[in-house]
Amino acid sequence: MKASTFLSLALFGPLCTCESDQGQDIKLRLLTYNIRYATTSPDTGEQLWSVRRPLMASQLNFETTNRPESLICMQEALRQQVTNIQTDLGDSWQRIGVGREDGAQKGEYSPIFYQPGTWQLTQNRTYWLSPTPDVIGSKGWDAALPRIVTVARLTHKATGTPLVYMCTHFDHVGQVARENSASLLIKIANDWSKTNDTATPNKTVPVFLAGDLNIQPNNKAYSTLIAPASEGRMKDIKDLVPVAKWYGNNKTFTGFTSSKTDDTRIDYIFARDPVKAGFKFLSYGVLTNSFDDGVYISDHRPVVVDALLPAAGKA
Ligand SMILES: *[C@@H]1O[C@H](CO)[C@@H](O)[C@H](O)[C@H]1NC(C)=O
Ligand SMILES: *[C@@H]1O[C@H](CO)[C@@H](O)[C@H](O)[C@H]1NC(C)=O
Ligand SMILES: *[C@@H]1O[C@H](CO)[C@@H](O)[C@H](O)[C@H]1NC(C)=O
Ligand SMILES: *[C@@H]1O[C@H](CO)[C@@H](O)[C@H](O)[C@H]1NC(C)=O
Repeated sequence: MKASTFLSLALFGPLCTCESDQGQDIKLRLLTYNIRYATTSPDTGEQLWSVRRPLMASQLNFETTNRPESLICMQEALRQQVTNIQTDLGDSWQRIGVGREDGAQKGEYSPIFYQPGTWQLTQNRTYWLSPTPDVIGSKGWDAALPRIVTVARLTHKATGTPLVYMCTHFDHVGQVARENSASLLIKIANDWSKTNDTATPNKTVPVFLAGDLNIQPNNKAYSTLIAPASEGRMKDIKDLVPVAKWYGNNKTFTGFTSSKTDDTRIDYIFARDPVKAGFKFLSYGVLTNSFDDGVYISDHRPVVVDALLPAAGKA
């Protein structure tokens, strides 16, 4: 084995010519979950994180067991919650992401959890949703708070297939900020969809975008994301799955009340140019956030998508 081959194997695992794996579809499960920050002064109906934590842990473990390709995007996770969830998911998981206030440990994270046995992280970055995306802590336009997107470039180790997963949380107040954040995300997705591989300079990498957008589908920021005119437009994966394959709820935000009248759909998973990329979307689900004990695991429900992704070399 040549030294360079050995080095690339050591760094990236088998970026492979393993024929047995090539041509097989990757069974991808994407989740997004606004987990509600750990507050010391809970809302009516809200339990402390210490009560919610084990319920969330068992839900996340149940939804990802035997699905090593699962990628979990979260919002509102404080440092303590990120480390708690890392502990609860266990050593086979890793995560990326930083606090939005200082680009380190302060403020809410939009972290991405993945299993390094299955995915090789090759690049990751946080952008602030503002006119100055590189400026840590920058607030955009009319936003009330600094907002971020966490971006991961991952390579599926068994097949060498790359993908990009973006995890975001839009502002809850600023409409201009939400519209401009949507445009910024389209641009970031286009940038990351290009490989830096000199052998295939123009090959497009699949990009998925998940998160809490704090808007319903009738909002202009949503239309901006899926605008047919924009390069590399996003598709709402819910729309790509036949209604018969929808599972669970339609609304994703419930608050901590059983009243359904103010529930809304504000959490999404999108795919960039999914038809061109040859994805098959098998199911779409909005899971529950409350069981027999009546405890709300969060004020949002998790959104889950199952897809088949053509392995590199096949599409
Ligand atoms: C991910 O980002 C962090 C923070 O910038 C950096 O320290 C780390 O090296 C990155 N990991 C990879 C594999 O690029
Ligand atoms: C490609 O490489 C250039 C130069 O190293 C870098 O600035 C850019 O961010 C990379 N783009 C992607 C999509 O990785
Ligand atoms: C890649 O795309 C650019 C812009 O469309 C084009 O100018 C260039 O020739 C392409 N390169 C290859 C190797 O196809
Ligand atoms: C979700 O929406 C679909 C289509 O409008 C509808 O058929 C279904 O009953 C809804 N599900 C729930 C749980 O409300």
